[in-house]
Amino acid sequence: MTGDVSGRLAVVSGAGRGIGRHLALGLARAGMDVALLGRRPAGLADTARECARFGVRTRTCPVDVRQPAAVRAVVDEVADRLGGIDLVVNNAGIADHDEKPPWEVDPDRWWDVLETNLRGSFNLCRAVLPAMIEAGAGRIVNINSNVATKRDIRYSAYGTSKAALLALSDTLAGPLRPHGVSIFDISPGMVLTDMSARMTACLERNQWVSADLVVGAVIAVARGELDPLSGRYLHVGVDDLAELAARARAGLPDGIRTLRLVPHGVDDPLA
Ligand SMILES: NC(=O)c1ccc[n+]([C@@H]2O[C@H](COP(=O)([O-])OP(=O)(O)OC[C@H]3O[C@@H](n4cnc5c(N)ncnc54)[C@H](OP(=O)(O)O)[C@@H]3O)[C@@H](O)[C@H]2O)c1
Repeated sequence: MTGDVSGRLAVVSGAGRGIGRHLALGLARAGMDVALLGRRPAGLADTARECARFGVRTRTCPVDVRQPAAVRAVVDEVADRLGGIDLVVNNAGIADHDEKPPWEVDPDRWWDVLETNLRGSFNLCRAVLPAMIEAGAGRIVNINSNVATKRDIRYSAYGTSKAALLALSDTLAGPLRPHGVSIFDISPGMVLTDMSARMTACLERNQWVSADLVVGAVIAVARGELDPLSGRYLHVGVDDLAELAARARAGLPDGIRTLRLVPHGVDDPLA
């Protein structure tokens, strides 16, 4: 699938509000049918109503992405009702907005961030990948964050979860390539949402990135324009994605924009 995406099917998690809602609306505007996942039915129903204005099919799927069996059931139901899934956006996520240092934090709160951001994304990948592999096509976007690569002690759970997500995509990208399936990590920049508005790191912030940038990037993924960048971490606030994709088509060095150990020299045995 490249080019026109109308009539194709996207699954967006966390679609009831925030960036997920922007993504669902943008994909619907581009003509994609949308399956909307999230915990709260009211938000999903509202997003579905707005998406339906673009004449696409919608389905609301209340689900907690931390629950593998429930995610599996929802994916099966979506495939039964709407057909094969072309694009998945793992957007559902949480941050502990006033996270304590790891030596003080409530361990269950810390783990809940991992369960949602990492396990939730894994659960959706696990549920959709067999059919994508069988179809020989499919694309997955993990919504990531700068905190994955820039250490911030205020967000140890969030940063760990997003770094692990980078590792997951990196692990999957190579083996999925021969099956025609691509996977990307895309950072949206700082977008004003319920999550960012409450984070202590953002309390003084008065400049925000428009969600249109991440919407445009995910549509470019859906159109296949970024396939040469599968497995790489992209940041919509700073990257020229078309230029990066052109460079990748000409041959991007192995490991660029992936999570790697920095060796202390060429003779480092771990290099
Ligand atoms: N905002 C930013 O500046 C920013 C920057 C970098 C990365 N991100 C990433 O962007 C993504 C979206 O963030 P946001 O800012 O839009 O946050 P948000 O406004 O707080 O929305 C979070 C979404 O995730 C859903 N969600 C949370 N836990 C879930 C669970 N267990 N099961 C199903 N859905 C769940 C929520 O659904 P319910 O409403 O149903 O609970 C909600 O729709 C996250 O992955 C975040 O890490 C955001």
